[in-house]
Amino acid sequence: MDSIRQHFEENGQGQVFAHFDTLSEEAQENLLAEARAIDLDELDQLVALLVKGEDSSNADMANSLEPADFIPLPDNGGDAAMWQESTEKGEAALRAGRVAAFTVAGGQGTRLGYDGPKGTFGVTPVLKKSLFQVFAEKILASSKLYGKPIPWYILTSVINHEATVSFFEENNHFGLPPDKIHFFSQGLMPAVDSDGKILLAEKGHIALSPDGHGGALRALVRSGSIRNMEADGVDIVSYFQVDNPLVRCIDPAFIGFHLMNNSELSSKMVPKAYAEEKVGVFCEQDGKSLVVEYSDLPDRLAQETDASGSLRFQAGSIAIHIFDRNFTDRLGSGRDEASKLPFHLAKKKVPYVDASGEVRNPEEPNAYKFEMFVFDALPFAENPVIIETAREDDFSPVKNAEGVDSAQTSRDDQLRQYARWAKAAGIELEVDQTGLPSANFEVSPLFGDTGERFVAAWEELSHQPVLADGLVLV
Ligand code: UD1
Repeated sequence: MDSIRQHFEENGQGQVFAHFDTLSEEAQENLLAEARAIDLDELDQLVALLVKGEDSSNADMANSLEPADFIPLPDNGGDAAMWQESTEKGEAALRAGRVAAFTVAGGQGTRLGYDGPKGTFGVTPVLKKSLFQVFAEKILASSKLYGKPIPWYILTSVINHEATVSFFEENNHFGLPPDKIHFFSQGLMPAVDSDGKILLAEKGHIALSPDGHGGALRALVRSGSIRNMEADGVDIVSYFQVDNPLVRCIDPAFIGFHLMNNSELSSKMVPKAYAEEKVGVFCEQDGKSLVVEYSDLPDRLAQETDASGSLRFQAGSIAIHIFDRNFTDRLGSGRDEASKLPFHLAKKKVPYVDASGEVRNPEEPNAYKFEMFVFDALPFAENPVIIETAREDDFSPVKNAEGVDSAQTSRDDQLRQYARWAKAAGIELEVDQTGLPSANFEVSPLFGDTGERFVAAWEELSHQPVLADGLVLV
C-alpha cells in the first residue's frame, strides 16, 4: 500500500481511499497527490481545537477589547503638515521603486452569483471595465507618474488561476508589462464533517477549498514572490481586495505613514456607516492592535456609543493594508512559531461522496472549512499604524448581487467621485442631493486618478467635452 494511504488510515482518515480501488490509475495518482498536500497533524489540531473543542475565545475576548487609535484625516482634526510630509515620503519610496501592489483574488465570490473570477466582473459606469482593468489602469497611472514600473502580485486559487491568467493574456495585460505581473495560487484546506473526517467531493477528489486570504502570506513565500520582491528592491507591499473598484491601489500618504512609523503592517480605517455594517473593527487588547471580524464582535459592543453619540468601536477595516516585506516573510515562512495565523471555522453546505459512493447534496450545512484571515497578522506586527481614509475615495466594494455593496452602489459611488472631481475643475454638472450626477459618464484612471490630477488633465484639454451620457475620458 502507498505510504500516504497508510498514513491516512493510521490517522483515522482511511475513508479518503474508500473508493480508491475503483479509480483509474491516473485518478489514483491525483487523489494521492491531493492527500499528500494535506498536513494531517495540523488538521488534527484544528479539529480538536475548533470542531470538537469548546472555543471560549469570543466570550473572553469581548471583556478586554478597547477601540483602536488611528491617525485622523486633516479634515477631521489630523495634522495637515504631517500628512504632507508622509505624502512626500511615500512619493520618494515610489520613485525609488520600493513598492509593489498586491491583490487577493482567490475567493469564490459566491455572494455575487457571478460565474468567473471576481476580478473579471464589469464594474465601471459606461464601459463596464473589469475590476482587474480598473486596478491595472491605476497601477499604470502611478507607474508613469513616479517613473518606475510597479510590480503587481495577484493571489489566485486553483478554482480561478487559469481563467485569471487567460483573462490578462486576452487583454494584453491592460498595457502593463507582462513580466511585472505575478500570479500565484494560494493553498487549499480539506473540508471535514463534525467528526473531523475529511470529505470526498468525488470518489477521486478530496473536498478542498482555499485557505482564506490569510493563506496569502505563506503563498507569497512558497511561490518565491518574496525572493522576487527582494531581488527587485521592493520592501513595501500595498495590499487590497479584488472587490473594491474605488481603492487607491497606490497611496503615497499611506506609504509615507507606514515608513515614518517604521511599521510592519499598516491599515486604513473608515468610520463605520452604521452599527451593523459588515466590516471588521480595529480594536486594542493587551497593548496589541487587532481586527475583530463583524461576525465576532458582540452586538453590545457594536452598538455602544460614546458621550457624543458616535459608535465607540467605529474604526471599520476596509481591508487595505501595507505589509513590510520582511514581516510577510517572517509570518509566511512559519519559521517563527510564536507568530502563526490562527484558523477560523466556517460551517458550510459541502456536497460529498457517501460510503456507498453516491454524491450527496446536503440541504443544511454539513461540513467545516478552515480559513486564515490576513488581518490576524496585526497583533504580531511591530509599530502597526492605522490611518483614516475618506470612504468616498477608497471604498465601495462589490460583494452582493443587489442591495448594499452591489454593482449598482459601487457604480453610483464611482460616478459621485467623478462628479466631485468635475466640480473641483469648475465644470457645471447636474447632481442629486446625494451628489450622484444625472449623466452616466466615465473617467479612466489614465486620464486622472485623483481629484488634483483630474483637474490638471481637464485644464490641458484643447476641447473640453460635455460630461453627457456615454462620455469616456481617457
Ligand atoms: C472582508 C473582511 C472584513 C472587511 C471587508 C471589507 C474577511 C474575513 N473579512 O469581508 O473584515 O471589513 O472585507 O470589504 O476577509 N479571498 C481570497 N482567498 C480566500 C478567501 C478570500 O483571496 O480564500 C479574497 C477574496 O477574493 C476577496 C477578499 O479576500 O478579495 C475578501 O473576502 P470575503 O470573504 O468576501 O470577505 P468579506 O466578508 O467581504
